Amino acid sequence: MAGSNLSARVQALPGDPIFGVVERFKADPRPNKVNLAQGVYMDESGSTPILGTVREAERRLLASSTTKVYKPIAGDPRYLEVMRAILFRPAGAPWGDLEPAVSGRVEMVQTPGGTGAIRLAVELVTHLRPEAEIWISEPTWPNHRQIVDESGAVARQHTWLSADGARLDIEGLLAAIDAARPGDAMILHASCHNPTGIDPTPAQWSEIAAHATARGILPIIDFAYQGFGDGLVEDAAAVRAFLQVGGEFLVASSGSKNFALYDERIGALAIVGADASAATTLLSHVKALVRTAWSNPPAHGGEIIVEILSDPKLRAEWELEVTAMRTRIADNRAALVAALAAAGAGDWSHLANGRGMFALLNLDDAQIARLRDDHAVYVVALGRLNVAGLTSTNIPVVAKAIAAVVA
Ligand SMILES: Cc1ncc(COP(=O)(O)O)c(C=O)c1O
Repeated sequence: MAGSNLSARVQALPGDPIFGVVERFKADPRPNKVNLAQGVYMDESGSTPILGTVREAERRLLASSTTKVYKPIAGDPRYLEVMRAILFRPAGAPWGDLEPAVSGRVEMVQTPGGTGAIRLAVELVTHLRPEAEIWISEPTWPNHRQIVDESGAVARQHTWLSADGARLDIEGLLAAIDAARPGDAMILHASCHNPTGIDPTPAQWSEIAAHATARGILPIIDFAYQGFGDGLVEDAAAVRAFLQVGGEFLVASSGSKNFALYDERIGALAIVGADASAATTLLSHVKALVRTAWSNPPAHGGEIIVEILSDPKLRAEWELEVTAMRTRIADNRAALVAALAAAGAGDWSHLANGRGMFALLNLDDAQIARLRDDHAVYVVALGRLNVAGLTSTNIPVVAKAIAAVVA
């Protein structure tokens, strides 16, 4: 009977807020179109190449791999070790050193992308503490909201930007932490806040960590852009701040951006317990969740990262590749601010305060549609644009288009 069809009582959902825009961009026949929608790094030619170190690692893997047998539920132990090293490396310390406060209380799990790690973190919270509410910044990466909603937990929003959009509303953020219920969780972007580009300073992270610990809030640190802000170690200030205060927290890391391994779906969840035994207990629950979701992770992306990070020469080359991406992004940001001024678009100097790939123009839907329809410039909600998609050729065009829609 048609009435019993699974599809009978549902309507189609709208497309994803980011992937949906990219699909529309691809279908646009205009040759001068500019894709500033998706959060992937692009070079001056507008492409997202495979890193040289990744190519070399894959060449080695092709020559040396002997099996495709399953990895353990928590992932490849060699991958987990190098990821622990990169997430918890003290400032100024040699490779392989860990922050003393780690002291055996960090367990790691290999996940399909940063998204898999965030989903796992949220599932862990709802599994162990169903009454917990999960706080996200307003605005944030739309998938945070979607993941929390899908988990069944109540999503709560806290402020991120000051009214003028130029800086972090630290007072508002701390007030939200102080007002949350003990046991709630809060997803915090470690660096390169998506979509605003505005991050806490290291001193502000210490304040945030102190308030979260005092209130009994579980931080879920979304670390999707390590190395794209100020540097691989510098960008981990949030992780170090939460380690120092000694409480439990989770870190969702992604290899999509800094290794450009977008389609390999490689990430990691770090589980920081109050002590080693707490971390082991939490890991056992995470493994039970993994077993019924993806069972054990896809291997190739992790093997590439192991190959790169375990070889001092390849690791040094990769650090240079990350530096080159970060520098180009920062240069583009400065060039955009200058081009907007030259185009008579008004004062956008606050965009220079941001770091990472995103800048927020704060446009309404009609302005975003005009950018797309009249100027073939694609940005996502609120006018978030990917500064990595700018090139010396398209910057003046984009700046003029923005000037036209804000006039
Ligand atoms: C803020 C944020 N978190 C997490 C991710 C997860 O990335 P992935 O699942 O591709 O590793 C992204 C990707 O765009 C992101 O922007």
